[in-house]
Amino acid sequence: MSDSGEEDVELEARLREQEYFRPPAKFVGQANVSDPAIYDRFEEFPDGFEEYANLLDWDETWDQVLDASNPPFYEWFTGGELNASYNCVDRHLDERKNQTALLWEGEDGEQRNISYRDLYREVNEMAAALRSIGVEEDDVVTLHLPMVPALPVTMLACARLGAPHSVVFAGFSATALAERVDSADSDYVVTIDGYYRRGELLDHVQKADAAMAEADRDPEVLVWTRHDEVDDSVDVSDDYTMVADLLDDHRRERVDPVSRDAEDPLFLMYTSGTTGEPKGCQHRTGGYLSYAAGTSKYVLDIEPEDTYWCAADIGWITGHSYIVYGPLALGTTSVMYEGAPDHPHKSRTWEIAEKYDVDIFHTSPTAVRQFMKWGAEYVEGYDFDFRHMTTVGEPIQPEAWLWYYKHIGGEDAVIVDTWWQTETGGHLITNLPALEDMKPGSAGLPAPGIEPALLDDDGEELEPASGRAGNLIIKKPWPGMLQTVYGNDERFISEYWEDFSDTDSDDWTDWNYKAGDGAVHERDGYFRILGRLDDVMNVAGHRLGTMELESAVSEVQDVAEAAVVSRDHTEKGEVPDVYVILREGVEESDEVRQRIVGAVEDEIGKFARPANVVFVDDLPKTRSGKIMRRLLENISNDKDLGDTTTLRDPSVPERIRDQVKAD
Ligand code: PRX
Repeated sequence: MSDSGEEDVELEARLREQEYFRPPAKFVGQANVSDPAIYDRFEEFPDGFEEYANLLDWDETWDQVLDASNPPFYEWFTGGELNASYNCVDRHLDERKNQTALLWEGEDGEQRNISYRDLYREVNEMAAALRSIGVEEDDVVTLHLPMVPALPVTMLACARLGAPHSVVFAGFSATALAERVDSADSDYVVTIDGYYRRGELLDHVQKADAAMAEADRDPEVLVWTRHDEVDDSVDVSDDYTMVADLLDDHRRERVDPVSRDAEDPLFLMYTSGTTGEPKGCQHRTGGYLSYAAGTSKYVLDIEPEDTYWCAADIGWITGHSYIVYGPLALGTTSVMYEGAPDHPHKSRTWEIAEKYDVDIFHTSPTAVRQFMKWGAEYVEGYDFDFRHMTTVGEPIQPEAWLWYYKHIGGEDAVIVDTWWQTETGGHLITNLPALEDMKPGSAGLPAPGIEPALLDDDGEELEPASGRAGNLIIKKPWPGMLQTVYGNDERFISEYWEDFSDTDSDDWTDWNYKAGDGAVHERDGYFRILGRLDDVMNVAGHRLGTMELESAVSEVQDVAEAAVVSRDHTEKGEVPDVYVILREGVEESDEVRQRIVGAVEDEIGKFARPANVVFVDDLPKTRSGKIMRRLLENISNDKDLGDTTTLRDPSVPERIRDQVKAD
């Protein structure tokens, strides 16, 4: 038997035996929170949350912690004033101006070590540049930038001016960018000529070109450059303004941070919901920053002297809260890596961890599963020592958890599995690493001050810790929660509140936030997250709406009707399968299949590419004509079909299943 075979057997045996893992004593001894009294302090609702707000510098202290008079439009730290850029940059200058704030590594090996003083200078110059082209307080600035320092610098420059940023993940297509520019009423787009992915400099600015042709609005476009000059392979339109030229005009300029009302928006982050249109989750300045800083300190155990690496992308909420705002508010050193983890070799992640002597490491279960598939030999021989590791975004299977614990953590690091969402701003269900035992596959206890519960489909609350599954809700508001869906209060209510609240009531205790996830409240009090209950899927940690995918597929002329469902995938967690009825006279072919895949890439982005396109004659529909995606999902996942009696033609799913099996 090979070594790895023996190891697998050993892992499995251990997994069967050991349900809980104690945090190492050396971790507990140094942790930011090691006294369970924290939970009691946060029981004082809502005043407990002042502990997080007190981590920040305020220009004006708040009058009231929570104004809950108009649920679900809660207001946090009302009367307070602050600036997020000041809190993440300026206030650290006295104590740590020479300390590295951002440690950036390009995929091509280029490095930048940006001290807090450098960051101060760059953020000020960029704020001056933005101001010079007309950006004012409350203007939404759309950022379509990859993992380069320009991204956090531009975010913080916007925050300095009080202009909410709307970061669109660089992997999103031109169409998705145009949609978000229009939806956010944004008159400014900041992009870059290109960036590296697997050794190639991708032409990124072309997406802005196509987006500007598609958008209804006509925003001003600013272009950063990946190197000192525009790359030869990229063509930048004369209509655009080069950031470098603007910065030259504003060298050493200082911009006073605008004092923002605690409730003024800090940013928008678009995410997928149950309709075809993405939602602009609007986050407030005071509550969000307090919550991001507080959870960074207590859950991620960040200290200023740490080197902390969250290997997510700033284009998603994880990067906003836990690469930029939380860690920088605490004055730590945050690592950013531009490229793919397997370029130029599969040890790249561990090479970076060793080079920068990373203390705290944060990644997704998809990444862990990928590392596991590549094998422990790619980790061995690298000298790094994490004391703390995080997973986020998807359920982690106990096998993957144990591999992470053993091969990356050396059985000597804590792991926190953090459950939260774009909407929640920060962690809601997660253990505090020194206080609770780790349990593979379980997110653990609610974060301090957070009160989750499970409801059955009739809205009845399940007995706490009953071991049963239900709809996950959050009963009390918290400072990191979204304020609303940008420009659409009705959608805010219908997506998150309506199902499980008494919407006629003015009493906030009658309102419950619907997470959209199913969960089990285990007998030990830990929550195990089961995944989305709505038409949202989680592909390699990227959140996608079934409706968005279906509307992209329907853009193809050849398609008469389409249904998209999620299929379980060993590495990516879930992948989209597309079932398509073609129009009369259109022949099934690889060309048509390619057109469908291409449409998804164009409308959303390559990361959303369907795994399978299945051509069918009919789709399973109820008598009223509603497509029963659940049946298709069972076919994709090779499960029993279940009840088909309500179908107009009960033979349809079986025919499709036979066809899928034959393919
Ligand atoms: O289904 C849950 C899953 O990710 C969804 C939120 O996605 P997004 O808004 O993109 O934010 C991801 C990063 C915070 C949730 O509704 N999810 C998130 N964390 C976990 C998780 N599923 C299981 N375990 C987690 N720790």
